[in-house]
Amino acid sequence: MLVAVTSVKGSPGATTFSLALAACWPAPARTLLIEADHSGGDVGVRMGMAATPGLVSLAAAARHADDPMLLWQHAQVVPFGVPVVAAPADADRARSTLSALTSEPGAGIRLVRAVASASETVVIVDCGRIDAGSPAAAIARGADALILISRAHAPDLAHLVYRLPVLGAWTPHPVLLLAGPGFSPAEVARELGVAPLGRVPDDPRGAALLCGRTALRPGARVLERSAVGGAARRVASALLARQEIPIPRRAEQRPVPGLHVVPGVPAAAISVNGLRPAPHLVHEEIPSRGGRAS
Ligand SMILES: Nc1ncnc2c1ncn2[C@@H]1O[C@H](COP(=O)(O)OP(=O)(O)OP(=O)(O)O)[C@@H](O)[C@H]1O
Ligand SMILES: [Mg+2]
Repeated sequence: MLVAVTSVKGSPGATTFSLALAACWPAPARTLLIEADHSGGDVGVRMGMAATPGLVSLAAAARHADDPMLLWQHAQVVPFGVPVVAAPADADRARSTLSALTSEPGAGIRLVRAVASASETVVIVDCGRIDAGSPAAAIARGADALILISRAHAPDLAHLVYRLPVLGAWTPHPVLLLAGPGFSPAEVARELGVAPLGRVPDDPRGAALLCGRTALRPGARVLERSAVGGAARRVASALLARQEIPIPRRAEQRPVPGLHVVPGVPAAAISVNGLRPAPHLVHEEIPSRGGRAS
């Protein structure tokens, strides 16, 4: 199975959740994480990995050989046991490497698909913040499932209104996950017409393990027992069960009606599409109830 993990805006925890999925995927599947973020990789630096092997050496090798084993050979195993093909931290290098790997004739993509289609094998690809022009889009478009992680505040959701139908059309199995505080899954389902599969729990301890800030004792099952690890396992189970999440197929140019209330902001200061205008606009353009600018 090929699972792409993406975000649209901010840093909602896509890399952390990708690692959690790879670490906590139910047995007996073996997992591999490919870091395909054109903004530059984080896992190598966070885990203190050597610069090579990784995505750069994989892209070079894939030019000359078509062997699915290459993917495993160019991975390094992080302390909690997940093989990771890490992207270089330098964004320019990451983008050019990914472009080389994913451009026609598509040897890199063929390799990824070949490994992902092997039995009991799950390839998780952290595509970072993705759009149609991202070099990782070619991988995400062929994924069996695409997980989109978003924060649940009004500005993030306003972006989702437009991105969800586009990303949803890339895969037979799109999944929306919320991260952090903000609107509830039920509110998001009501307003966007798309039911999130759930919310990634706020779990600083689990995230610290997955980001290499806390060392993991050998044999300890802390990660599996962590809140974020449990969430990853539930998402994996839902993917395995092929739970279908309906995603609208056309972008609808409609406002986000339920987001007209932003805690702490007067109702008059919320624009029609649910966003909070910049303070100077509030001052200049939105009169207070008494008729004076607030
Ligand atoms: N579930 C979580 N609970 C608490 N903190 C988290 C969680 N997930 C991620 N974090 C923290 O948030 C920060 C960003 O996480 P991460 O790098 O995974 O985000 P990202 O979406 O991949 O960002 P980018 O788009 O920049 O690659 C990290 O410091 C991480 O430890
Ligand atoms: Mg990331």
